[in-house]
Amino acid sequence: MQQVQAVVAKAKGAPVELVTINVPDPGPGEAVVKVQACGVCHTDLHYREGGISDSYPFLLGHEASGIVESVGAEVTSVAPGDFVILNWRAVCGDCRACNRGEPQYCFATHNATQKMTLEDGTELTPALGIGAFAEKTLVAAGQCTKVDPEARPAAVGLLGCGVMAGIGAAINTGQVTRGRSIAVIGCGGVGVAAIAGAALAGASPIIAVDIDSKKLETAKKMGATHTVDSSASDPVEEIKRICAETYPGAEGADVVVEAVGRPETWKQAFYARDLAGTVVLVGVPTPGMTIPDLPMTDLFGRGGSLKSSWYGDCLPSRDFPMLVDLYRQGRLDLDAFVTEEIGINDVEAAFDRMHGGDVLRSVVIV
Ligand code: APR
Ligand code: ZN
Ligand code: ZN
Repeated sequence: MQQVQAVVAKAKGAPVELVTINVPDPGPGEAVVKVQACGVCHTDLHYREGGISDSYPFLLGHEASGIVESVGAEVTSVAPGDFVILNWRAVCGDCRACNRGEPQYCFATHNATQKMTLEDGTELTPALGIGAFAEKTLVAAGQCTKVDPEARPAAVGLLGCGVMAGIGAAINTGQVTRGRSIAVIGCGGVGVAAIAGAALAGASPIIAVDIDSKKLETAKKMGATHTVDSSASDPVEEIKRICAETYPGAEGADVVVEAVGRPETWKQAFYARDLAGTVVLVGVPTPGMTIPDLPMTDLFGRGGSLKSSWYGDCLPSRDFPMLVDLYRQGRLDLDAFVTEEIGINDVEAAFDRMHGGDVLRSVVIV
């Protein structure tokens, strides 16, 4: 066991605190990782506010990269010294999804078995089973994916959550590629990552939709070919018009990614896609949300598919090294997602800045 400094949310709504925690030595199938960088995500704030569960105290942070310090028995996938990105879906290898060759849908993902604790022994709940606003964290070895050690920790650590969710929503779930059009509704961190993914895949046009003009500027820098301010014009009509300019006869986009998580924007996505097109819901709805008044004939008549994208349907072992290589080649600008590098004591201030809309990601450098 060792003691390290970490950012903990002790009670609902209370500011986070930097405290000493106990990190057990890794047991079978576990690894201790020396964290180098960890992005500040909305989900961390939701944990602090009690929006995810009541299992306080939470050890926050989950978009991270670092160096494996030690591994427990039976660990062969990573070794001390490896540079890794942490993921929150270590696949089991033995559930129905894994057995049918689709581990990206694993139904039984896992985390470390042992618990990290406060100094008095109180068990911590690590955010998304990671807990990386900490000098060191204990995870399941399967949560570590080895990548090119030359990559910048602050940039590639972001693949551990929101950026992967967005890129994957476009290229894994939506399957966009050259010759296909895409619209992305909601251009926060997840939406602009979907735009970057679509650009990487060669999709065109790439239409960014948001109600905030600042977000649309960022979307352009990330590869959007067109922008639509949906506070000023009807996004469904605009998407249809832009797609028909490129592909005569198109009645919308081949893929529409909804990256807000609200019924009204999902409905815009539904009606803005071309016949037989695909809607990808990556925005996370809150309990109680429903889609009212959707005529079943529209559901049937338009064909195509309505999908949800969990973590961008990523398979970390397949997607992280590939995306890090594209980043190293200069084809995927992960640096553009890092608005600022901050200290481990600055998480609370970073939460405040999230509301301003000027920050894509604040990244804690540990
Ligand atoms: N129409 C278009 N855009 C909207 C609308 C709307 N009605 N309402 C909000 N938005 C925009 C915001 O202006 C913002 O740019 O959606 C964006 C949401 O971005 P963020 O709050 O930064 O959230 P992000 O981290 O990108 O996550 C988006 O994906 O993973 C989920 O839980 C996450 O539901 C959230 C969604
Ligand atoms: Zn499985
Ligand atoms: Zn996240």
